Amino acid sequence: MSISIGIHDLSIATAEFVLPHTALAAYNGTDIGKYHVGIGQESMSVPAADEDIVTMGAAAAAPIIARHGKDRIRTVVFATESSIDQAKAAGVYVHSLLGLQSATRVVELKQACYGATAALQFAIGLVQRDPAQQVLVIASDVSKYELDSPGEATQGAAAVAMLVSVDPALVRIEDPSGLFTADVMDFWRPNYRDAALVDGQESIGAYLQAAEGTWKDYTEQGGRSLEEFAAFCYHQPFTKMAYKAHRHLLNYCGYDTDKDVIARDLGQTTAYNTVIGNSYTASVYLGLAALLDQADDLSGRPVAFLSYGSGSVAEFFAGTVVAGYREHLRTEENQEAISRRTPVDYAGYRALHEFKFPADGGDHATPEQTTGPFRLAGISGHKRLYQRR
Ligand code: CAA
Repeated sequence: MSISIGIHDLSIATAEFVLPHTALAAYNGTDIGKYHVGIGQESMSVPAADEDIVTMGAAAAAPIIARHGKDRIRTVVFATESSIDQAKAAGVYVHSLLGLQSATRVVELKQACYGATAALQFAIGLVQRDPAQQVLVIASDVSKYELDSPGEATQGAAAVAMLVSVDPALVRIEDPSGLFTADVMDFWRPNYRDAALVDGQESIGAYLQAAEGTWKDYTEQGGRSLEEFAAFCYHQPFTKMAYKAHRHLLNYCGYDTDKDVIARDLGQTTAYNTVIGNSYTASVYLGLAALLDQADDLSGRPVAFLSYGSGSVAEFFAGTVVAGYREHLRTEENQEAISRRTPVDYAGYRALHEFKFPADGGDHATPEQTTGPFRLAGISGHKRLYQRR
């Protein structure tokens, strides 16, 4: 008999600042309906100068360590597509900030927004092999596009940390998975750029093609039927994309695309992404956090996941919500991570967007802006210096 493995704990973190879309619309003259209704976004998280994927990832993971201790964690997998170094894994900084044991393997994974799902699946494999160990999966990203580009309205920043173990308290991850890979250039970020490049309409088409492909493989592998799922957690580059993808999948499977049915299937997965913006690898698991935090009791109900990463790789899989999960949620802390953000005006956001360390190898301190538990104090000799506040 196969053992039960999945998400034992889940915690989220986001950035210090928030830019409401009303401020962006007022600046660029866009009708606010395009943002609020057309793409389904209300505001975006904006990192302080002394925040990045490491500080957010550590902030998301710290409460998990506080609750479960460190002794069983032998692997940390850090998924990101806004990497801060070409060699050293961001998770190594987190390992240090959290004081994890030296007998740990730490690695960074990349495949656009899909990376965290690869991390989760690899974690399950490791736990299967050694059921005594727990794996800390961290998904952390800063979504950054060019100023004044169509992508700008879909920026955001957040991290999700998940503890993967046997007998999970939240969600048991099931086999099979539906898989899909296609070589497309819908979204990418060459090494010499810090803002991503994207072909917006191509990316939407590539996502829908991947949704279809993963579903086809999922059914061929003997997966559940669509109507069994209580809810669907999609990757949400902007929340309306989840609606587009679900409508596409229902159509593909020959179902009516009734608005109420789509809202019922997705409605409770979008609350965090709507106000945080795109958090790339973290986005699909922010969808799960919002669902678990808000939905009526889901005990024993299967939930679908569609994880999409441009380029492109996608996976469709299912998880069953574990009875009693509500006692283990972090609803208040999750909502506090969002509500504690400080609104920034358009000029302040623009200055943060343009903030960059000189690449001269000198000593550069960052302004003290974050009120979160960890900060990037600066760089010295090309080395990033982190500290606990
Ligand atoms: N009131 C209501 N709705 C309005 C409106 C108004 N006043 N004005 C426009 N709209 C609607 C449009 O009709 C459109 O809706 P539909 O898509 O349902 O037709 C929607 O608002 C957006 O309008 P446009 O298509 O004209 O917007 P745009 O060209 O400025 O860009 C975008 C939209 C392509 C998503 C752009 O924001 C972008 O490039 N984003 C980054 C790429 C991205 O997120 N791609 C998603 C798939 S790739 C992926 O998932 C990986 C990832 O994380 C990047």
